Amino acid sequence: MTLNYTQTRLLEKEEQIPYELLLLADETIEIIDSYVKGGEIYVFEHNSQIIGVYILYILDAKAIEIKNIAVHKDYQGLGIGTHLLNEATQRAKEKGFKTLVIGTANGAIKQLYLYQKVGFEITGIRKNFFVDNYPAPIYENGILCKHMIMLEKQL
Ligand code: ACO
Ligand code: ACO
Repeated sequence: MTLNYTQTRLLEKEEQIPYELLLLADETIEIIDSYVKGGEIYVFEHNSQIIGVYILYILDAKAIEIKNIAVHKDYQGLGIGTHLLNEATQRAKEKGFKTLVIGTANGAIKQLYLYQKVGFEITGIRKNFFVDNYPAPIYENGILCKHMIMLEKQL
């Protein structure tokens, strides 16, 4: 498959929010809506179809978080996720932030691998985050996801 690893673009206000993709990375629309409105949605397109997305959400004057990142199932494993993470890093830096934050579940082995590979370091753990905030148990790789592992990249 030939992919053009171009820059993402900001989703316009009047465009539909790509919930189908965002739901790959988070469990419910309600939870996605809790950060979608205050965040910037960047989309990655291939043949005029949105196949990748990430959301940047300002935490404070120095820190910004990738709240959601997802690549369409048919296009995973081709390097798009890596491309999006590197681009998000560049955007955060250009905006003047000092720290880029990302969090994922304790069972998300691929994500933990990928985030560390592109330069994030584990900095903390939000104990029982998924138990306390999500309606039903979540399993990934056969592991019950209870905690959120927090990672940071200095810019
Ligand atoms: N275990 C370990 N590593 C794996 C696995 C696996 N099961 N499957 C693939 N990988 C590796 C790949 O080999 C590749 O590493 P490499 O470059 O060393 O070969 C890497 O993981 C994947 O790299 P990309 O192809 O750049 O990533 P991709 O385009 O697949 O995007 C993403 C990654 C965004 C996590 C995608 O898989 C996805 O959308 N998953 C579902 C949604 C999701 O979980 N999002 C993140 C939730 S956390 C958050 O949103 C903040
Ligand atoms: N990524 C993810 N999972 C993997 C990988 C991999 N690269 N390779 C194997 N696995 C899985 C296997 O599929 C299996 O899971 P499954 O049952 O779901 O299929 C599991 O990991 C391995 O299970 P076992 O066969 O029971 O474990 P093994 O006999 O290989 O022993 C051990 C594991 C002790 C970690 C061994 O690989 C080893 O000696 N490694 C080198 C030393 C080491 O790293 N020790 C641990 C350091 S930390 C400490 O000592 C406290």
